[in-house]
Amino acid sequence: MLEQLKDLHAQALDELNKVNSLRELELWRVRHLGKKSSLTKILRSLAALPLEERRNGGAKANEIKRALESSLEEKKKLLQEALLTSPLESQTLDVTLPGRPLPTGRLHPTTQALKEICDVFKNMGFQVIEGPDVEWDYYNFEALNIPQHHPARDMFATLWIDAGIGGKARLLRTHTSPMQIRLMERERPPIRAIVPGRAYRYEATDATHESMFYQVEGLAVDKNITLADLKGTLFDFCRCLFGEERKVRFRCDYFPFVEPGVEVAIGCSACGGAGCRLCGYSGWIEILGAGMVHPDVLARVNIDPEIYSGFAFGLGVERIPMLRYGIDDIRLFYSNDLRFLRQF
Ligand code: FA5
Repeated sequence: MLEQLKDLHAQALDELNKVNSLRELELWRVRHLGKKSSLTKILRSLAALPLEERRNGGAKANEIKRALESSLEEKKKLLQEALLTSPLESQTLDVTLPGRPLPTGRLHPTTQALKEICDVFKNMGFQVIEGPDVEWDYYNFEALNIPQHHPARDMFATLWIDAGIGGKARLLRTHTSPMQIRLMERERPPIRAIVPGRAYRYEATDATHESMFYQVEGLAVDKNITLADLKGTLFDFCRCLFGEERKVRFRCDYFPFVEPGVEVAIGCSACGGAGCRLCGYSGWIEILGAGMVHPDVLARVNIDPEIYSGFAFGLGVERIPMLRYGIDDIRLFYSNDLRFLRQF
């Protein structure tokens, strides 16, 4: 038996030398130290042997078992260390190599324009507020002197949400002007505020018209506000954004909620005023509608038109970067073409 145990030991060590992975090591453990291993079988059979043989055989078998267990632990340690060090040795890391550039994000051109527009008006003392995109008919139309069946509703092709009765119908606001009413309902003059936000219209798109676009509404109400204040404010704004040289046109227009109404247009940057597809061959691009707040609108929100007056304007935001950078189609803004967006 002692011979058999010696052979077993030698064979186990020989096989252990050839083990190269933790998985192989586990198989080796099962083979030589597991319940069905020859060594365990010998240990179990000892009880049936005469005393002397049992004592010698048992001592030797246990000695071999302990020796194999410690060889197993040693091998395990070596294999675990190799697992950590071998990738470090095989992979070289050059810490002097330049890093991989990360693509940087940037603000959408509309967001950039909104920030710039708001900064100009903030410097003039206007506060910035926001309002809801889903609006009541009352605020979008009725309170702005556009009752049901008024022909001016055709100016604003509307996306309706539901068909409530009278001012109770809901819609996607067709302009930011409803915020004039909401502002005057909750604040008393002096008021000086701008409202950046989205507007929606159910109309065929073209180079200068989108069905969703941004406007910035402006409202100033106080004693002694005149058309000259409106003109001065808007001309200052145009000079800040387009410089002293750019041509600005200020002329009459009609909106039911102002009297008189005006529009401001800027000389087309694409053709320099000669006429092109972008400006509809007129040489001008309209950027905003404006006017003196109609006395009936003031009276509706309990601001006495005999004491107070005000001006309001509604500016098309996308038209500003279009004019500055010569972008010839507004639909590029929201078509998510990264080749276009990455230029700003
Ligand atoms: C209005 O929306 C009025 N609420 C403006 C106003 C406010 C007048 C306060 C008087 C007092 P208008 O529909 O003209 O007006 O639009 C104003 C500006 O929004 C236009 O000059 C244009 O720059 C922009 N705009 C209008 N419709 C579109 C559209 N479909 N796509 C892109 N921009 C548009």
